[in-house]
Amino acid sequence: MTTLTATAVAHPNIALAKYWGKRVGPGNYPAVPSLSVTLDGMASRTTLRFDERLREDRFVLGNELVQGRPLDRITSLVDEVRAAAEITARVSVVSANDFPTASGLASSASGFAALALAAVSAAGLAWSSEQISNLARRGSASAGRSIFGGYVRLPAGPIGTDGSIPLAAQPVAPADALPIKVVVCVTHAGPKSVSSTDGMLRTMEKSPYYERWLSYACENEAELYQALLQGNLRSVGALAEASALAMHASALACGVSYFNGATLELWKEVRLLREAGLAVWGTVDAGPHMKVLVRTDQETIVVPRLRAVAGVVRVIVTTPGGQPTVKRVEEST
Ligand code: DP6
Repeated sequence: MTTLTATAVAHPNIALAKYWGKRVGPGNYPAVPSLSVTLDGMASRTTLRFDERLREDRFVLGNELVQGRPLDRITSLVDEVRAAAEITARVSVVSANDFPTASGLASSASGFAALALAAVSAAGLAWSSEQISNLARRGSASAGRSIFGGYVRLPAGPIGTDGSIPLAAQPVAPADALPIKVVVCVTHAGPKSVSSTDGMLRTMEKSPYYERWLSYACENEAELYQALLQGNLRSVGALAEASALAMHASALACGVSYFNGATLELWKEVRLLREAGLAVWGTVDAGPHMKVLVRTDQETIVVPRLRAVAGVVRVIVTTPGGQPTVKRVEEST
């Protein structure tokens, strides 16, 4: 018997222009375009094996067996690969992150990207990066972006489809397009209370600001893309910060709150650093941590200041990059 195994390593990405909100209907299409940077220095490593002896899919994340909805999301992604490759075997998936999981540090982005890459590779499918991005995006939209390193754009999805139209992310600028580091300030070790999926669904349903967010997010992303192409760090930083604040304002308006005390202290510190003339901007995803963009030559001044903020438990300095890798092994047992 032959077992088909592949191991993929993918990296989280941080949205500078945020995705928040979905198209109504099947297919997990984002309602707004987003633009992100993939990060070296943090990674998800996933090994997937098609195994005829298994009676059901098995998913171990960080040494813990996962069941319920997270396992269902894995199964639906792998089902698409099984159908395309005409494989019936169940899978064993073992995944680990070298950073806190499910806490707003983009573990679903790197996790679903690594899963999609490993599944396609283990099944022996000769899919393009766009096809793999589309697959990962259906699992978790931000994951579609982690199939590429550097700066990556994910367009908004089409309106009113049956879910079958492909939508992939596109790499738009190399990792060295801007002279920045991304400093990840971890403020809390546990998992977040509201997942990004649930937070955005609630915002769509209940926020009085959701419609305004939709139009603002499109303008913000288009401007940020232009600023990136021009290498204009000040505009990219300001637009990234504005996107995060607008996203959180729309969520907060219906009671979806991700900040803790340390997040608020970090916002204050970033503003103080900027008032002191430093090139520093903050962004926050669906969790209490802040990611700070800092010009590379100012890293040594800024990092100790962020580390000293009350409630910051860990600081990870990352660099744009993060091209994923995958390796396939075919074994006879
Ligand atoms: C705030 O990609 O995790 O990080 O598609 O429902 O899995 P699903 O959502 P997910 O949402 C990410 C939201 C965000 C912003 C972003 O990464 O663009």
